[in-house]
Amino acid sequence: MKTSLVSLAVLAIAVSEVAAFPALAAEHAERLANSQRGKRSTLARSIHKKRVTFDPASQYTSTTGAHAFVPPNFAAGDVRGPCPGLNAAANHGYIPHNGVGTMGDFVNGTNEAYGMALDLGGFLAVYGSVFDGNLLGYSIGGPTSLNQLPLNNLLGLTGAPQGLSGSHNKYEADTSPTRGDLYLYGNDYEVQVPQFQQYYDALIEGVDADTQYANLIDFRIARFNDSITRNSHFFYSPFAGVLVSPAGFSFPVRMMANHSAEFPEGSLSKAQLMSFFSITGKSGKFVYTVGHERIPDNWYKRAIGDEYTIPGFLADVLDFGEKYPPLLDVGGNTGKTDSFTPVDIGSLTKGVFSAADLLEGNNLECYALQISQAALPDILGGAETNIGDLTQILKPLSDNIAENLLGLGCPTLNGIDDSQYDVYPGYNNCPNGCSGYSS
Ligand code: HEM
Ligand SMILES: *[C@@H]1O[C@H](CO)[C@@H](O)[C@H](O)[C@H]1NC(C)=O
Ligand SMILES: *[C@@H]1O[C@H](CO)[C@@H](O)[C@H](O)[C@H]1NC(C)=O
Ligand SMILES: *[C@@H]1O[C@H](CO)[C@@H](O)[C@H](O)[C@H]1NC(C)=O
Repeated sequence: MKTSLVSLAVLAIAVSEVAAFPALAAEHAERLANSQRGKRSTLARSIHKKRVTFDPASQYTSTTGAHAFVPPNFAAGDVRGPCPGLNAAANHGYIPHNGVGTMGDFVNGTNEAYGMALDLGGFLAVYGSVFDGNLLGYSIGGPTSLNQLPLNNLLGLTGAPQGLSGSHNKYEADTSPTRGDLYLYGNDYEVQVPQFQQYYDALIEGVDADTQYANLIDFRIARFNDSITRNSHFFYSPFAGVLVSPAGFSFPVRMMANHSAEFPEGSLSKAQLMSFFSITGKSGKFVYTVGHERIPDNWYKRAIGDEYTIPGFLADVLDFGEKYPPLLDVGGNTGKTDSFTPVDIGSLTKGVFSAADLLEGNNLECYALQISQAALPDILGGAETNIGDLTQILKPLSDNIAENLLGLGCPTLNGIDDSQYDVYPGYNNCPNGCSGYSS
């Protein structure tokens, strides 16, 4: 995947000048980011860009019949969690209504409902199964007795499946757009209405999705800054933080936007945002109803052939990373607010990458994909169970990543050294994922 080499090079040079002085580097990066804001060329995106046309017949996402909105029955055991896209898909029967499904359910359902490409859906679904489920599938909310899938006896790999809601630090991350930080709110899966209000205010209507996304950078920075300034336990890991948390900012404009002849690449309205996030009422007096995420009626997904892919998603991650490089820093607060300390990416990756060259060439893509790959053997390595055909089960994930790594010309990364995380209470008190902090 080619990125905007010109603007990347400008940033890379500037960042490397000051890399020896981390505190200064952060400050410098911030200034640099401000000076670059809004200036980035659309070069990177235009390479990926296909000519998209609008075809109502194939893009219509049904919300009637088998796909009519049915809210969850929590008393009967239905679960919903931190992902509004999956919650809405469950409410409309694109994935199992109870909120517990297999990898295939998630890949198929997100593709059918939203036009999420099979590579990205596969990647996210396999990750959910490995980290938050029982390898075959997982719960989109918390732990559930419904999670009785055939491989349940393989538990012990990651402990009893905690679902997406219980996957803080593994999959669910701090500094999400509308969900609160776990340490601050005691839950990581419900909408915090003031955060939704910020999102709503930041969204510009009546322009295409690219422009909408570009204009969300200030909201993204504000959320990041809020976690730094208020959450003493803020932790921003390489996978959940650097890679997954940006999804909350790009996915709505990329996959919740309505498509039309006027905006073949989509344009998300504030009303659509409200519907997908289960918000009603008037701006300033919003009301949130847990679990009522809804696909709007008469809504059209992405064009067939223009699905949201891994390269498309990484381009979006890079886009914000270029505009505000601190978003690419793995790190956290060290027990006090306003103490954000980045880890040394060099030691984390055993010398393979350094912060200074992360924005050079394909390094960020390599780093992101390899870090997510590296996380797998760590977890599997701790397994004492007979893992039998695990390799087979994980094949889609390794194939998927391998395919994306192919052609990037990545340097070899042999695992990561996460001993540097010891200084972050947000990690130390929740090293293997959790749904709450003990201290
Ligand atoms: C297999 C597919 C998917 C999986 C496993 C998944 C998983 C997750 C997880 C774990 C989170 C929490 C991340 C965090 O704390 O920052 C999340 C958040 C989010 N997801 Fe998904 N997701 C999937 C598909 C989708 C789709 C298709 C959409 C959009 C149509 C979507 C939209 C979102 C949004 C907007 C958030 C941020 C919520 C917020 O904090 O405001 N996701 N997802
Ligand atoms: C995907 O879902 C649709 C309808 O929801 C169904 O017709 C199709 O058979 C599913 N495909 C797979 C591979 O599960
Ligand atoms: C971060 O938040 C603090 C406190 O609210 C504020 O003073 C500061 O200007 C913010 N910085 C950025 C970059 O938004
Ligand atoms: C989506 O766009 C179509 C085509 O322009 C329009 O008819 C429809 O009302 C829109 N749907 C929503 C939910 O805004």
